[in-house]
Amino acid sequence: MGAIIINGGRPLRGTVEISGSKNAALPIIAATVLHGGTYELRNCPDIADVRCACAIVEELGGHVTKAGQSLYIDTGQIFRKTVPEHLMKRMRASVLFLGPLLGRFGSAELTLPGGCPLGCRPVDLHLEAVAAMGAAVTLREGTICCHGPRLHGCCIDLRFPSVGATENALMAAAACHGTVTIKNAAGEPEICDLIAFLQAMGAQIRGGGTSELTITGGAPLRGVSYTVMPDRMETATYLCATAGCGGEVLLLDGDGSCLEPVIEVLTRSGCDIRQRPEGLYVKSTERLRASGHIETAPYPGFPTDAQAPLMAAFLRAKGALEISEHIFEDRFGHVPQLLRFGARIELAGNCARVRGADVLRPARVEACDLRAAAALILAALQAEGESVVSGAHHLYRGYDDPVRKFTALGASIRPAR
Ligand code: UD1
Repeated sequence: MGAIIINGGRPLRGTVEISGSKNAALPIIAATVLHGGTYELRNCPDIADVRCACAIVEELGGHVTKAGQSLYIDTGQIFRKTVPEHLMKRMRASVLFLGPLLGRFGSAELTLPGGCPLGCRPVDLHLEAVAAMGAAVTLREGTICCHGPRLHGCCIDLRFPSVGATENALMAAAACHGTVTIKNAAGEPEICDLIAFLQAMGAQIRGGGTSELTITGGAPLRGVSYTVMPDRMETATYLCATAGCGGEVLLLDGDGSCLEPVIEVLTRSGCDIRQRPEGLYVKSTERLRASGHIETAPYPGFPTDAQAPLMAAFLRAKGALEISEHIFEDRFGHVPQLLRFGARIELAGNCARVRGADVLRPARVEACDLRAAAALILAALQAEGESVVSGAHHLYRGYDDPVRKFTALGASIRPAR
């Protein structure tokens, strides 16, 4: 798991299949806990975070088996309402088990979640949402205890359209007595996928994709078969990789309709990107032309998760690009590492200015989080010579078989022995 060795400087050519979405699969796996039943989840990515979510289901007393990209989950025998600390620490999304456990059993106990170090990342909005439904919530010495045997209808007005808080509120609300309205809800496509899954289970939810969701709780639920949407951020990463390295790639199953801000930046910088029936096609034949300013924002704005890979794509561009990060207070951990490749990036607060360098030199670097790891891989693919990216476990949390996929595109990339 330690490091990845890359001999960069080659264009990327060929076809790569986009896996199922991490950020959709994780809440959907958590949602299977809401009702004891059997589930088939198709198109689940084979990544460490999904394995962690499955380990939580098993720890709670459920059963998970895997066949290819499908997970078969039986949550009928779940009896524990506590997620152990060693699993909570492994990823932020472990907190998504709060809503389903509370909804099904009337109580839940979790420790504060881990995840990428992008700032303080509190869970206050999650806790306020379930408290509004009538749960008694305590947070003492890092342990969250929620008790709410009879959740009721309410109106939740989120101070910020948090993805995770919207998902937890949705899942708890599906089991409450009454109607829950969530205002200022997040509208990310992965939330729409969760809503479609919950609706297939029988939940009554209106307003998916808008900022106001209405859930009529208490509808009878059932186990279902469901296909998880393709991964938007894996798609963005392979788009950025092709844009930065040059080449021509077809992203099988890639869906450009939910990546418009990323596609807009790459297209205006010189890439040819087209949606085809089988996926997203990208061609990049010359150095990107950088200009303008990008601001990360909740959907449909520029996604924070694409910020680091996009920055990596512009390291050799002509001109300069400014990027402001507005979602997380500390999401430029990749910048000091990118400088080791000879990148020209100036940081001032939450704003980074990237001026293209004529060449990148190979470097030994260490990833500090998932998307930072992707950015370092993209930089190494563009730098002629041998680079070593350590901290690769961050990459494997969210990217399905990246070494095989980049190799299939002609890259020289291998795990260190
Ligand atoms: C999800 C995604 C992550 C993405 C992020 C923003 C998953 C598994 N992860 O993370 O990849 O980068 O959305 O698109 O889907 N906040 C609070 N209090 C809370 C909750 C959040 O202050 O209770 C703040 C966070 O610190 C952060 C901002 O809100 O600054 C956005 O967080 P949120 O939308 O909740 O992201 P996650 O659900 O953690």
